[in-house]
Amino acid sequence: MQVVETISEVRRIRREGQGSWGLVPTMGYLHRGHAALVEQARKENDHVGVSIFVNPTQFGPTEDLAAYPRNLERDLALLAEAGADLVWTPPVEEVYPAGFQTYVTVEDVTKVLEGAARPTHFRGVATVVAKLFNVFQPDRAYFGQKDAQQVVVIRQMARDLNFPLEIVVCPIVREADGLALSSRNVYLTPEQRAAAPVLYRALCAARDAWQAGEHDGERLRGILRRVLTAEPLAQPHYVSAADPRTLAELGDASRGVLLSMAVRVGKARLIDNILLA
Ligand code: PAJ
Repeated sequence: MQVVETISEVRRIRREGQGSWGLVPTMGYLHRGHAALVEQARKENDHVGVSIFVNPTQFGPTEDLAAYPRNLERDLALLAEAGADLVWTPPVEEVYPAGFQTYVTVEDVTKVLEGAARPTHFRGVATVVAKLFNVFQPDRAYFGQKDAQQVVVIRQMARDLNFPLEIVVCPIVREADGLALSSRNVYLTPEQRAAAPVLYRALCAARDAWQAGEHDGERLRGILRRVLTAEPLAQPHYVSAADPRTLAELGDASRGVLLSMAVRVGKARLIDNILLA
């Protein structure tokens, strides 16, 4: 496994690697969810590239950029084990040199849900992912369903800007009690950690109702809200029953629905979702 910092080294190794390349973009502090993406990429490609970069442009001014957890040594051990060939760990100036002034803005699908609360977040995500696509030129890029809106935004960008690659989406990896793995789970105290599975419980209650024939969007959002408000340590930011492609809130959810939510538990803002189709 080669670990490099500069774009020119990535490009050289990419050129020398005959056959297909899979790319797994990450912000580090890796866990089994990230490892699952690398393992999937390993199965489907001759070479696997991973980026570890805490991307400043996707953090808002009041968000946790400086505090975002980091542990490069542990990340590299996990990536070697999962089968990565090339890891790019650029310093900020390599990605955003002085004078940088070009951004990728995806319009409608970034205005709702996470984008409503974090107005510049997806501009930062789309910009850095476009740069990663240009640097690695992968045949396939791997993303987790954990960040459902991110997947919609990146698919839209790849289609609109004609990136010649396949976007592969991998299922959410969870703890035994249902909590979705996240680098931000380290912010939880033991008491908050015990409360955090309420997100998945709420999603499962709404999923069960949908499967039993409850296809009214407002009533599905009501189920999510009811389960969440029963947990005093959870402060819901939003609950959603949306069209999986446009992310517009649904009245009639009979043709499939993305159930999603953002919930503050202590210092952590947790997101989770279930896609029903
Ligand atoms: P990060 O939060 O590090 O996540 C990297 C990838 O891992 C994302 O595609 C995310 O959806 C996936 N992932 C995280 N937790 C997961 C879980 N429990 N199960 C399955 N997949 C999971 O998402 C980002 O970084 C950044 O926005 C990035 C795309 C790298 C751009 O900066």
